[in-house]
Amino acid sequence: MYRTHNCGELRMDHLDQQVVLSGWVQIGRDLGGMTFVDLRDRYGITQLVFNMDDNDELCQKARKLGREFVIKVEGVVKERASKNPNRPTGDIEIIVSSMDILNASLVPPFTIEDESDGGDDLRMKYRYLDIRRNPVKENLIFRGQLAFQTRKHLTENNFIEVETPVLIKSTPEGARDFVVPSRMNPGQFYALPQSPQTYKQILMVAGMDRYFQIVKCFRDEDLRADRQPEFTQIDCEMAFVTRDQILDTFEGLTKYLFKAMLDVDLPEFPKMAYDEAMKRYGSDKPDTRFGMELVEMNDLVKGHGFGVFDSAEYVGAICAKGIAEKYSNKDLKGLTDWVMRPQIGAKGLVYIKFNADGSIKSTIGKFYSDDVINGWKDALGAEIGDIVFMLSGETEKTRKQLNELRLEMGNRLGLRKAGEYNPLWVVDFPLLEWDEESNRFHAMHHPFTSPKKEEVSRMLDGDHETMKSLKADAYDLVINGVEIGGGSIRIHDRALQQKNFDLLGFTKEEAESQFGFLMGAFEYGAPPHGGIAFGFDRLCAVMNGVDSIRDFIAFPKNNSGRDMMIDAPSLIDEDQLDELNIKLTTEVEV
Ligand code: AMO
Repeated sequence: MYRTHNCGELRMDHLDQQVVLSGWVQIGRDLGGMTFVDLRDRYGITQLVFNMDDNDELCQKARKLGREFVIKVEGVVKERASKNPNRPTGDIEIIVSSMDILNASLVPPFTIEDESDGGDDLRMKYRYLDIRRNPVKENLIFRGQLAFQTRKHLTENNFIEVETPVLIKSTPEGARDFVVPSRMNPGQFYALPQSPQTYKQILMVAGMDRYFQIVKCFRDEDLRADRQPEFTQIDCEMAFVTRDQILDTFEGLTKYLFKAMLDVDLPEFPKMAYDEAMKRYGSDKPDTRFGMELVEMNDLVKGHGFGVFDSAEYVGAICAKGIAEKYSNKDLKGLTDWVMRPQIGAKGLVYIKFNADGSIKSTIGKFYSDDVINGWKDALGAEIGDIVFMLSGETEKTRKQLNELRLEMGNRLGLRKAGEYNPLWVVDFPLLEWDEESNRFHAMHHPFTSPKKEEVSRMLDGDHETMKSLKADAYDLVINGVEIGGGSIRIHDRALQQKNFDLLGFTKEEAESQFGFLMGAFEYGAPPHGGIAFGFDRLCAVMNGVDSIRDFIAFPKNNSGRDMMIDAPSLIDEDQLDELNIKLTTEVEV
């Protein structure tokens, strides 16, 4: 037998019991005639004691153990003389009477401790060692539990988990596809699903009524902290539902998960229209844990001879409370440089400091008297002790820059508090986005999203300008400024779907060859339907107040999309290429 107990469970109740434990050597310490070894497994750490007086040979063997050796010990549970209150097993230790070394270990390339000295790529290369560390292990346990609770709740609410294929035809969700060559169909390729979107709609036509799937999705896009090329969705679809029924259902799921996993009671989720979110926060995924909302200043600032503001389409401000004394000129210079970095792209930063003595220091004093500036206080919600930051330029761009600045100030001022959760439904997204560069419309969500009911006739008959203003029955779930999920009511009518493809620049033939199956299905009694998909990795991260989803993925890819452990992607044999009818046109270095 390898173990009678695990390394996290022995307590004072077990005193004097004979036990067998197996695990990894965390660390050994030699003190005079005694050797102490911390033995670790998934469940915890237990202290082992080897006593030279009792068994010299065994003690010498223990002294030779290296970190991460795998051992099995037998011994008796005793009370510790000096207890360790930080460890659940800290009251006891095992006086070891025999030990087997089950496997030796090389010295690990980084420390297997909560705070590791390993860099990201090294930790990914040796992910099996990284997962032995508590924080990573706990994250994976959290993820497993979250998946279990999701399945439990949805299954109890009549949803059926249906698996959809992974080798499919490309679905346009806005990213590039990963493709897989077909050996049996020379020159043809499958695509890996960016999401099971069309399949879940087909399942509604098939009468499944309530579907869900915890499913891998694949998108070949640039990677960021909250993006991986393969990630997981909680993908859901319902038939015969209104938008609000969908929102209620998934607000219910979210509340259930927060309660079950974190014992947090979420408040009612407010709804905010996309236009309002852009106006108030400059973002369609605002972090509503703090205020500092954008204030449009056009009417107040124009006509005072300040050319930059006079000529700007939009002048906006945010007010940072109570920082006037804390922020020196050097800090303000630093912040100005920060907004002017290419990633943010502002041309400069105007600030107004409302000093404690009532005086005003600003970068625009030449054009605006103190009286004029004091007159803006109400609109800005500003008081003595605050600093107001202003940016100007093209409306959409400037709002986005102000959003970045708002989030940065939120971080600097500690306003984005861990442990606080502010969910929000963002609704009424535009249906289409006009892209100047390619001179065509893109679907803001995806091509299967329905316009709002009252917009259908405008969509069928309207002109080009009308199309730009159409609103979709689409919604996002945002928590703490992270887009956790998105979905929509779908088009379930062939003619309207065809019209949408027309607007998106598909020819009739292209639409037919790519989506004929879906439009065909719509002709056999498609019920009204809609759904949503949650980003499962993002949900894990946000629930734990972490930015990077990698921490919740067992084997993540690095920033270049590589799996550092198995070293993928990699070249394949000539033979394999031949079999797949693939000829590489560029020389690739091996
Ligand atoms: P969408 O494209 O908005 O919608 O994706 C749904 C959610 O998936 C998460 N997500 C990602 N997470 C990690 N890495 C990525 N690369 C990544 N891309 C997206 C986000 C996002 O909100 N089929 C539709 C859903 C529907 O309409 O029902 C879809 O996939 O949290």
